[in-house]
Amino acid sequence: MSSVIATTAIRGRFLDIQNTVAQAREIHDQVRYVEDGLLITQNGKISWFGEWEAGQQHIPENTQIEHYPEQLIVPGFIDTHIHFPQTEMVGAYGEQLLEWLNTYTFPTEIQFADKNYADQIAHFFVQELLKNGTTTALVFCTVHPQSVDALFEAAERHQMRLIAGKVMMDRHAPEALTDTVESAYSDSKALIKKWHGKGRNLYAITPRFAPTSTPEQLERAGQLKTEYPNVYVHTHLSENKNEIAWVKELFPEQKGYLDVYHHYGLTGERSVFAHCVHLEEHEWDCMHDTDSAIAFCPTSNLFLGSGLFPLKKAWEKQVKVGLGTDIGAGTSFCQLQTINEAYKVQQLQADKLSAMESLYHATLGGAKALHLDDKLGNFNIGKEADFVVLNLKATALQQLRQQRAKNIEDALFALFTMGDDRNIQATYIYGQKAYEQI
Ligand code: GUN
Ligand code: ZN
Repeated sequence: MSSVIATTAIRGRFLDIQNTVAQAREIHDQVRYVEDGLLITQNGKISWFGEWEAGQQHIPENTQIEHYPEQLIVPGFIDTHIHFPQTEMVGAYGEQLLEWLNTYTFPTEIQFADKNYADQIAHFFVQELLKNGTTTALVFCTVHPQSVDALFEAAERHQMRLIAGKVMMDRHAPEALTDTVESAYSDSKALIKKWHGKGRNLYAITPRFAPTSTPEQLERAGQLKTEYPNVYVHTHLSENKNEIAWVKELFPEQKGYLDVYHHYGLTGERSVFAHCVHLEEHEWDCMHDTDSAIAFCPTSNLFLGSGLFPLKKAWEKQVKVGLGTDIGAGTSFCQLQTINEAYKVQQLQADKLSAMESLYHATLGGAKALHLDDKLGNFNIGKEADFVVLNLKATALQQLRQQRAKNIEDALFALFTMGDDRNIQATYIYGQKAYEQI
């Protein structure tokens, strides 16, 4: 990994959320909109941010200024749940979760035993993240340790902050995709030693979901978490009604689905559970009490017919929520599209998701869900300099609509409703331009 010594100075319109909040209604007070702003980065971190007028004197000599007068610059998007090996199978027809896994997902994931294949898809995947303004993601690999190597190697080329891990899965899957109690433990341990904290990489212990791990394997996963308390735990929870019934059959001694993970020591401030569409009251309490986080994946929940995530309930219960694309059950890499669908999921429950709340979930709230809000999520001085330059007028229809935008919130809402990768003009990682639309 090359070390970054460059200084970058960016002038333009900046929008971010200054502080994490306990309630959605508090977000408005934390919105920071600087119409003519300046952001200076040094060695990958933000060294100065504020009004252009006040900041010019802080620009080191011989620094070239990149000016984006028309665009909107926001913190990099954070995707709290995505599967890199499922990139090629987006849009697989007709099934709900359990049949979808057997019919499409497992055959696709078998290919990642081949490191060359994993390298190719990992490269494509990282490019696709950048193209969509996503600068950090929490990522499922496959059961194969080499799939984790492939992904971290691809991310390192851009100094991208990724969290990822090897799937642990020792039952209810094809033999070519299963590990064992022991190999899951020792392979995960070797990967933690190799990757966790190397550059910006972080490791996540990744049991696929309770049905594909034996109790013995979950116990070893919990042991790993005890040995390495600073690594993450990443899995699925309460996505689909048949899945929940199956977990209850497989683990009759536990009170519910989340209790399985909790019993094995897999809940906590660095634990992220994808979906949580059908949690019971005691499970909400456990999520809160253990400070565990949810990845809300609207395009996936709609595509697989899983259900409607109750975002309002998560605020009530004070449970951290980030947004996830959940590629390839999700249908877009783009957080703009994900927000568009999140809004509709809330509408179907008679709730309103404001543009600023969506921005929060996609940036600082996502960082908080990943326990990284001290490093990511806004333009505070000292944070890592990951940000996105958005073109609000990428199509004729967007141009027409944006000309009539009443204010910045209305402009942002229109972008979230209609936007996609055409709106991502540039993506900066650690102060460096890692992608630019041509
Ligand atoms: N539950 C277990 N595995 C998966 C997966 O790959 N995708 C989704 N959406 N849910 C899961
Ligand atoms: Zn998933």
